[in-house]
Amino acid sequence: MKKFVVEGGRRLCGSVKISGAKNAALPILFSLLLTRGESYVENLPDIGDVRVALAILSSYGVKLRRTGESLIADTRDLTDAEPDESLVRAIRASSYLLGGALARFGRVTIRSYGGCNFADRPIDMHLSAAEALGALRDGDQLCAQTLRGGRIVFEKISVGATVNALLLAATAQGMTEIYGAAKEPHVGALISFLNSAGADIREEEGSLTVHGTGGLLSGGRTAIIPDAIEAGTYLLAAPLTGGEITVAGAIPSHLGGFLPKLRESGVRLKIGENEITASGLPTSSVCVTASPHPGFPTDLQPQFSVLLSQVGGRIRDSVFPERFGYLSALSAFGVRSDLQKQNGSAVIYPSELKNSIVYSPDLRGGAACLLAALAAEGESEIRAADNILRGYLGMQEKLPALGACVALREET
Ligand code: UD1
Repeated sequence: MKKFVVEGGRRLCGSVKISGAKNAALPILFSLLLTRGESYVENLPDIGDVRVALAILSSYGVKLRRTGESLIADTRDLTDAEPDESLVRAIRASSYLLGGALARFGRVTIRSYGGCNFADRPIDMHLSAAEALGALRDGDQLCAQTLRGGRIVFEKISVGATVNALLLAATAQGMTEIYGAAKEPHVGALISFLNSAGADIREEEGSLTVHGTGGLLSGGRTAIIPDAIEAGTYLLAAPLTGGEITVAGAIPSHLGGFLPKLRESGVRLKIGENEITASGLPTSSVCVTASPHPGFPTDLQPQFSVLLSQVGGRIRDSVFPERFGYLSALSAFGVRSDLQKQNGSAVIYPSELKNSIVYSPDLRGGAACLLAALAAEGESEIRAADNILRGYLGMQEKLPALGACVALREET
């Protein structure tokens, strides 16, 4: 395990290039199982979760050639396999095997999928989508010799279930309509990749219509979209350190729900076509409710709570109402909060930040701790930093380039 050692209290200024989005890269990588041919993926971030996904694909026989941020994947000769349990448990996105492996091999073992453990993360909607297309459950196996198009209605918005529904519908026989689908930019990115590989998926008002190919797709081509969550995390570092940070390559519309809240807190924003600059200190308390896109992203609420520790405010998470475990790690930095479990919210009080030593609770909670460490005077340590490196490319280089005093060391 690694740790970040941070000498906080420095003003961060400058421009940081945003990398490819983890949450777009992972469904696209697992969707390679639906293809037979060579696919080309650009702007693929070399982060922990992507490495695990590539190791899982290798176990099915996907031949991978990686040069820098480019990947060529050859899926012509695959075999049905049981990927290593430790790999499947390492990332949440391994749940995309439910769609990918079932569509390719006609069967998949339902496993315990890993990833951040900040809330109960059920898969009932993934399974009912598969069943709507003709899959049958047999113990821990999900089987379907032939998948047939059907009607899928999601009562709740789920990125994961939408991804699996798309993977199954893309190669099923006949047409599928998906209602209540997630509209996150990473879902759109998956659809573009699948369409480049020969799928026929149309985004319509209120639904997704998929004309299944009835067979495997060909190879496809894509460049992974910039990571909106990474961009939001760096933007927060500016007001927290009294600096000015430009996130280059970010797409403002992907941060739709976040930018107005940042502005409401008093932070100055300059929004260009492909970059955003944040400066100035927060001045006003803010109430935030995390909700599906285009709302405030649940993946930015832990980091936003550090900003709220400067002005006060309230956070509610309608996607994962229990996603507040990170607050106990932040309390070590002096963040005062009151968790109100009955309504899935937390009040954050204006607090004086102090340096501390903590274990990164999970990916985004760890990023929140890192922001607190950057803002607090003195030396802090964020241990179990691998949790953060799962989702953020090269923070140990990007932060020092902005003037932070941050080093990544082996934990002793
Ligand atoms: C969620 C986020 C996604 C983010 C990811 C990682 C949303 C809509 N999704 O995606 O943007 O990248 O976390 O932090 O903001 N649910 C069920 N049954 C299911 C599947 C989900 O009840 O079968 C529930 C979940 O408990 C949750 C909600 O649906 O309350 C949304 O879950 P889902 O979108 O599937 O989560 P992720 O795909 O992990």
